[in-house]
Amino acid sequence: MSDRVRIFDTTLRDGEQAPGCSMTLREKLRIAKALAELKVDIIEAGFPAASPGDFDAVKAIADEDFGPVICGLARCNPADIEKVHAAVKGAARHRIHVFVATSAIHREHKLRMAKEEIIKSAVGAIKMARELCGDVEFSPEDASRTELSYLAEVVSAAIEAGATTVNIPDTVGYTVPAEFDELFRYLKAHVVGIDDVTLSVHCHDDLGMAVANSLSAVRAGARQIECTINGIGERAGNCSLEEVVMAIKTRAEFFGLETGIDSTRLYPASRLVSSITGMQVPRNKAIVGENAFAHEAGIHQHGMLQHRSTYEIMRPEDVGLSRSSLVLGKHSGRHAFRDRVKELGFVLDEFEINRAFQEFKKLADKKKDLYDGDLEAIIMNVDSASVGPWSLQKLEVQTSSDRPARATVVLLGTDPEPVTASATGDGPVAAAFAALEQATQVEITLKSFDLHSASIGEDAQGEVAITVQHGADLYRGNGASVDIVEAGARACLDVINRIVRRRERSGDDPDSTEKFSRASI
Ligand code: KIV
Ligand code: ZN
Repeated sequence: MSDRVRIFDTTLRDGEQAPGCSMTLREKLRIAKALAELKVDIIEAGFPAASPGDFDAVKAIADEDFGPVICGLARCNPADIEKVHAAVKGAARHRIHVFVATSAIHREHKLRMAKEEIIKSAVGAIKMARELCGDVEFSPEDASRTELSYLAEVVSAAIEAGATTVNIPDTVGYTVPAEFDELFRYLKAHVVGIDDVTLSVHCHDDLGMAVANSLSAVRAGARQIECTINGIGERAGNCSLEEVVMAIKTRAEFFGLETGIDSTRLYPASRLVSSITGMQVPRNKAIVGENAFAHEAGIHQHGMLQHRSTYEIMRPEDVGLSRSSLVLGKHSGRHAFRDRVKELGFVLDEFEINRAFQEFKKLADKKKDLYDGDLEAIIMNVDSASVGPWSLQKLEVQTSSDRPARATVVLLGTDPEPVTASATGDGPVAAAFAALEQATQVEITLKSFDLHSASIGEDAQGEVAITVQHGADLYRGNGASVDIVEAGARACLDVINRIVRRRERSGDDPDSTEKFSRASI
């Protein structure tokens, strides 16, 4: 058996299904490019039948043909399969991924289909997909809660019908490592032809075991892991790409396996996904969290000074974390700025670099020393402002201990004339939010507000991450500034822009996103 494990990234499909994580086409293209630089083997770019917007995004990514295999998801019906094929065929290497649920719970309550009907529908779909494409993946959804003998029957039929990859999902994050190991060994022993296909694993993190379960499957013979950057995904998320990859790399002697991932691109990819989705990485998150390589206790620091390996099993630079303390200052030129942005892993076009450089200069006038965190915060702001439609021209806030705060905002939207609005609130942030709602006519309810410092020192930029409710949906957004009220206002505008963009996108097909991408998978 090969010792190479393929990494199948589903950030753009399963990851995007996380509440508040929907992305624009442009954002998806940026992530796809970062995934190609990370050297993932397969990118699951979306679910083309979910909406015209999803179709366009998968097609745009396939047409760019960044290098990895481009895959699209389909239910077992001809319309879905044709849509995937039309969307992915622009990529030199493409894949159709079909799925149907197999567990008793799904058979009885969701599909209302008998066991034989499900096998028939899977076989029909796989055969049709194979006529269109040589690379077909099949997933029996909720496999980990499916009767073992029936699961083996379904998988045998799928292989006979022509599936080239068989993926075993733990859809609801229910299994545990020892049980999942048994499931894989059972399939290995009972399914004819299983050694001729790639066996894959797809785990959700409801019990916090997605990475452990994926590693267990790999030990039992799986050679493809489905995962997402920062572990984003439905509910508690999916198996985290950076964790599973670094486990295989760091414990290479134990696993005897390797991936093709360029681990030095992990940190930049993580930052990119977190800034695009507005989903912050917890400080203590393994591999890419801010504290992952920080040593606080004196005894640990002492050990580290004697020899790094006393308390460090990976080097920060192995995951792309090469943070230098002092980076740039007021006199740094465009060249130095561009180089550092590139080193940090951001891929910006000429327009974005110019805008980021202007912001950098403005910040350097206010703040003497600029650190990596400051540059990342600038890029995050520039990125969300450049996709608009609203951008913040001016914010004025008056506060006093004996009357409500008042904020005035000036925004530029799609009309040439700026829009001005003023509002009061219990505090400066509440007033700024109310003024932004008034100017954009978008109503939001604030659910959470987190502030943290982007770098060090009293003049550090504050980074604000907020979650808001709009209608039935949750949205996340980020903003940064040396002024924390302005950082909050920028986060609020980021969220408002996401709401407006989503509204414009779902104008394509009113119920598609909710109906297909969220409810039925
Ligand atoms: O979790 C799941 O079962 C899925 C399948 C569509 C692979 O995402
Ligand atoms: Zn999933």
